[in-house]
Amino acid sequence: MAKAKRLYGCTECGATFPKWAGQCSECGAWNTLIETRLESHPTSSSSRRTGWTGEQSNIRTLAEVSVEEVPRFSTACGELDRVLGGGLVDGSVVLIGGDPGIGKSTILLQTLCNIAQRFPALYVTGEESQQQVALRARRLELPQDRLKVMTETCIEAIIATARQEQPRVMVIDSIQTIYTEQLQSAPGGVAQVRESTALLVRFAKQTGTAVFLVGHVTKEGSLAGPRVLEHMVDTVLYFEGEPDGRLRMLRAVKNRFGAINELGVFGMTDRGLKEVSNPSAIFLTRASEAVPGSVVMATWEGSRPMLVEVQALVDSSHMANPRRVTLGLDQNRLAMLLAVLHRHGGIPTYDQDVFLNVVGGVKVLETAADLALMAAVISSLRNRALPHDLLVFGEVGLSGEVRPVPSGQERLKEAAKHGFKRAIIPKTNAPKEAPKGLRVVAVTRLEQALEALF
Ligand code: TYD
Ligand code: MG
Repeated sequence: MAKAKRLYGCTECGATFPKWAGQCSECGAWNTLIETRLESHPTSSSSRRTGWTGEQSNIRTLAEVSVEEVPRFSTACGELDRVLGGGLVDGSVVLIGGDPGIGKSTILLQTLCNIAQRFPALYVTGEESQQQVALRARRLELPQDRLKVMTETCIEAIIATARQEQPRVMVIDSIQTIYTEQLQSAPGGVAQVRESTALLVRFAKQTGTAVFLVGHVTKEGSLAGPRVLEHMVDTVLYFEGEPDGRLRMLRAVKNRFGAINELGVFGMTDRGLKEVSNPSAIFLTRASEAVPGSVVMATWEGSRPMLVEVQALVDSSHMANPRRVTLGLDQNRLAMLLAVLHRHGGIPTYDQDVFLNVVGGVKVLETAADLALMAAVISSLRNRALPHDLLVFGEVGLSGEVRPVPSGQERLKEAAKHGFKRAIIPKTNAPKEAPKGLRVVAVTRLEQALEALF
């Protein structure tokens, strides 16, 4: 490889400079110059240029391009397979982002130990010693005889080893510890993280190795975190959960090989992460008595319905601006729905603090939560409990109309499966024949819903 020349590029306009400066003299943006590498093209010595995958550039109509099913294989973890879109694709690069300590290393170690029983696999760690990794594998009673572990942080050395070992799956834990010899800046900086990832992506595409990258999300959010890598990789998964809770959720936010917003649910135990294949059952563990302010809704996560409990606490406010606080729900949406509730339901809350929470740390950002959220608010405001076996979902518009939501049937089926007896839902979502044991109350207006509720 030709000796690299050091350059500084502006992340805003793309201009390059031989020296670093606080402001880009081309576009005037501040703090946008980062070290980049001007490298000769890998195949420029040959007369033909090829892409990253070694495919020669040519032009065809879409119909002429032969398409085959992308080859996938199972990771032996059902929840992970589903989030990936049905298995891991050869040659794909998957970024797993999340807060430190959430369980990224644990899930990848568990997965790799299992994959290694069937295919060659390599676990590269820049954060822990081989001993620490081995100890954890032993404690979790994972199969340890096949997985190879390497402690290394220089990307050139990692790729050289990987070329020899030829694993089918490789893990890099974490990308923030990796550096390339081409740059002088410290590991973890934007330039290092980006260059190292570029080299890994090229390696993955050339050799067909599937690569998992671990990326810590920094407190500030974006800088040097996984965000700068999102466009370079094929799949981005976020691992989330409440720090003190046991539940962990793996969500696909980008996937070139499958649907996004697919959710995998895990429980962190003293024996590592366990798959939760029936999340509704977990999120619905409620007190045996019905309490005011609690209502169950069916939310749609990726490709499956999930029953979650929405809780509201409405209390008289002593402030000029009453508080509107939400956890797992959209705050602006709450403000809007409270206005609708006043205007079309005749229920004022301007002198009340309203707190809302989705139990279990689940985020429900779809509008299907509207009706459930309003039901919880009224239930708390009037201090009247709603029945335990009642399900509510539906979007509420500004004029008080109840609108349909996608996949209504599946939501109802999930509720029937868990023993719910009554459902208040948008009329358009009402099935011709309700699932067995479930009585469906179809409404078109908020007023009708309120009548059915109380
Ligand atoms: P880890 O996978 O090291 O997190 P990350 O790689 O995302 O930084 O997870 C560490 C946390 O998980 C740690 O706080 C302890 C907890 N944990 C368990 O509760 N049980 C277990 O079996 C393991 C391995 C970890
Ligand atoms: Mg870790």
